[in-house]
Amino acid sequence: MSHLLPLSRVAKLVGQPRHALQEMIRFGTLATFDGMIELDELLRAFPEVTWDDDAEFRRVSEIKDKAFAKRVRERALPDKDVLVARLNELGDEYAAAKALLLHYGNVMAWLDEKIDEFDEDASAETHHALHSVRAFLLRNLAEMPPEAALAQAVIAQERILRIMSAHVTIQPSGHEFFVEGNDTLLEAALRNGISLNYGCSNGNCGDCKARVVSGEVKKVHAHDYVLKPAEKDAGMVLLCSYAPVNDVVIEANVAGARDIPVQQLVAKVKSVEVFNPQIAALHILAPRSQRLRFLGGQNIQIGFGGASGRYAIASCPCEDRHIEVHIPRRFGDAFADALFAKLSANDSVDLEGPYGEFVLDEDSPRPVIFLAFGAGFAPIKSLIQHAMSLELAESMDLHWLADAAGHYQDNLCRAWADALDNFNYVPHAPSDDLEALLESVVLDYPDLHRFDVYAAGTAAQLERARAQFVRAGLPGERWFADPMDA
Ligand code: FES
Repeated sequence: MSHLLPLSRVAKLVGQPRHALQEMIRFGTLATFDGMIELDELLRAFPEVTWDDDAEFRRVSEIKDKAFAKRVRERALPDKDVLVARLNELGDEYAAAKALLLHYGNVMAWLDEKIDEFDEDASAETHHALHSVRAFLLRNLAEMPPEAALAQAVIAQERILRIMSAHVTIQPSGHEFFVEGNDTLLEAALRNGISLNYGCSNGNCGDCKARVVSGEVKKVHAHDYVLKPAEKDAGMVLLCSYAPVNDVVIEANVAGARDIPVQQLVAKVKSVEVFNPQIAALHILAPRSQRLRFLGGQNIQIGFGGASGRYAIASCPCEDRHIEVHIPRRFGDAFADALFAKLSANDSVDLEGPYGEFVLDEDSPRPVIFLAFGAGFAPIKSLIQHAMSLELAESMDLHWLADAAGHYQDNLCRAWADALDNFNYVPHAPSDDLEALLESVVLDYPDLHRFDVYAAGTAAQLERARAQFVRAGLPGERWFADPMDA
């Protein structure tokens, strides 16, 4: 029987994003069988991959971890019960394969005897044929062909992946992700930018209830919330308390911008990062017991010592408790004044949100242009990181049209461009002639009708940009914008 692998696991094995493989399938350079990839096909399509050396895979992972600031990602082993269950499963597979091999060995011994039997009364011609068959069998059994050795290396790599991680599919949305280390299903979904429903994240509220459609899960954290017997019978579990043993399919709702309720919480300042006198980043840590649910591109109200303001979130929902907000220094903004003058680590700030509907269209397969005007980089950064964690877009181009604050996170954008084949970064210096600048941007896209455009800046900047893009062929409904001064 041939060895079949799911697309997501193949993407991990060959170190390519899923959308790159989907592209190959679309163009017919990678064949699938019932949505799965055959081992022979994998070896044919990726002859250059070194299966027994994961140095390159590790190198790319390290660059990506640094570039995407995944501070919370741990390369930990799975929970011990999960690990034991996975090893047991692997042991069963090994035992079955060994039994099959023994059976084949017996068949071979029987065949050998039969050849001897037939040979006794055989003519010279039959004797020669039998001799050739025996020699052929012995030669091929004695040494493994190079393709089989390669297949063995791929299977070994895939088995390690299956011990270290499990693949999850969410129905009906079709989102997919891997659970790695000792993450629960909920933690892994959030790290991958998937906004599942949840509340307390520690087994008290029941908001993360979901149904296991197939596969096996294990409870890794005790929970106080009591599931009714009928719910248990229906396969319901709490996503914040369970981890997958093997590949699973879960039925759960993925929230859109309108589904996430406005939350209020008190959080701690982790640090204030002053980029230059015009703009600073506020790094906030939400409490373990009450994280902030939001989608990339949304904004929050922050209050401190009587001053408050609404600002775009610059971090990805996949960064767990960490929230980053960029705050430009504007005349009359008391909160920005407090930030530059006296806010420091461990101060408490009041958060309320999320607000806004400037979020990714996760159903769109189109390439994306991100257009950031000045501090409009904040929501754009959040969207880019969210899109990266979801591996959504076929390609992403970031145009950052700087104001006096400059490209204050230029290194980060360059790191993204270095780490990803499908990401391009084009910084634009401040200009007095916005019209000419926008014209030079759209000139690079003679096929604008294929794209989605996400833009953030002042209402006046966005109005002019929209007019240029639509004039150059962008369908009006593919323009998504967030006016920062609305
Ligand atoms: S999020 Fe509250 S029980 Fe899981």
